[in-house]
Amino acid sequence: MILDERPKNRREDLFDREKELELLLNTIREGKPLILLTGIRRIGKTSVLQVTLNEWGGVSVVMDCRKLKENYGRKDLYSILSDALSKAEKLRDVLAKVRGISVVGNYVELKWGGERYVSLADLFDHLNERKVVVAIDEAQKLRGPLSSEVKDAIAHAYDYDRNITFLLTGSEVGLLRDFLGVDDEGSPLFGRHYVEIELSRFTREKSGEMLRKGFSEVGAKEEGVEELVEAFDGIPGWLIFAGLRYVQGKSIDEVKDLALRLALNEMKGLTKREKEVLKCIGKGRKGWKSVKECVEEMEKSTVSTSVLDRALRNLEKMSLMSDYSFLDPIYGEASKML
Ligand SMILES: Nc1ncnc2c1ncn2[C@@H]1O[C@H](COP(=O)(O)OP(=O)(O)OP(=O)(O)O)[C@@H](O)[C@H]1O
Ligand SMILES: [Mg+2]
Repeated sequence: MILDERPKNRREDLFDREKELELLLNTIREGKPLILLTGIRRIGKTSVLQVTLNEWGGVSVVMDCRKLKENYGRKDLYSILSDALSKAEKLRDVLAKVRGISVVGNYVELKWGGERYVSLADLFDHLNERKVVVAIDEAQKLRGPLSSEVKDAIAHAYDYDRNITFLLTGSEVGLLRDFLGVDDEGSPLFGRHYVEIELSRFTREKSGEMLRKGFSEVGAKEEGVEELVEAFDGIPGWLIFAGLRYVQGKSIDEVKDLALRLALNEMKGLTKREKEVLKCIGKGRKGWKSVKECVEEMEKSTVSTSVLDRALRNLEKMSLMSDYSFLDPIYGEASKML
């Protein structure tokens, strides 16, 4: 069903994305070591990831890193890994043989410290007994104190574990690139080749087609579709969010308001400067000089060039804006309320 807010895992529930699925499946079948699946929030990365793994049908381990906090420790990382391995039933026999791993019923326990601790590189070497896709959803969250350890292990597997394909997604694309550091001489992954698949927005026609299909599946009339497309054009997650609430009886204005509040809530972790920059861009300010003037006006103070540069760079790395425009118009609207 299209009008379902959970990430999709069956091809029949996923609208379009045929090309991307084909490309991902071929790349996995060819045994490429590293794939990045990128795109802004709500564009469908987790859905495309899950449908791909489902269609592929082989063994996969899916780590959901969204919950990792900035200063996560090994215990947090291993807890996510433990959940992921527990779901990979086809790996139980392989895992049961590994020092530092115990399979208890349906749960795979991992030792994250002490003498019998299992390192990531060790674990990957064992997983290599099967053809496995190790999927890391929101991999940019792995930045932080353990980032070298994780990258060293991925680099090791890249070189030695020919049966493993890493499939990384990231909604903060610049941060994901920073984490991997394939262009950074100091990174263990420097110079490694990877395949990148970027999910882009739907055209207006596709947006309408998806909603009409979703509406017809639940027996709802088509009226409202055009207005919803007008307000939420292009980003499937917003279209589904809005369409679902609309068929449940909310008005378009109510739905818009809910979306804006959600977007606003997602921006609350930004710094004061970042918020000011977004606010200025939301007001239509374009170009470095104009944004600087606007921020200075807001603060009634001069603002240092380097501080402003850092804020702009971070916002770009988080895929919130590019070239002084919002990548998601809902965030653009919400920024006015910051
Ligand atoms: N092609 C699609 N067809 C149908 N539904 C979709 C499609 N793409 C995304 N969705 C829906 O949009 C929402 C967001 O999708 P998903 O969680 O896969 O995106 P995401 O890029 O992983 O988002 P996030 O960055 O927030 O993790 C979900 O409700 C999902 O069901
Ligand atoms: Mg996701």
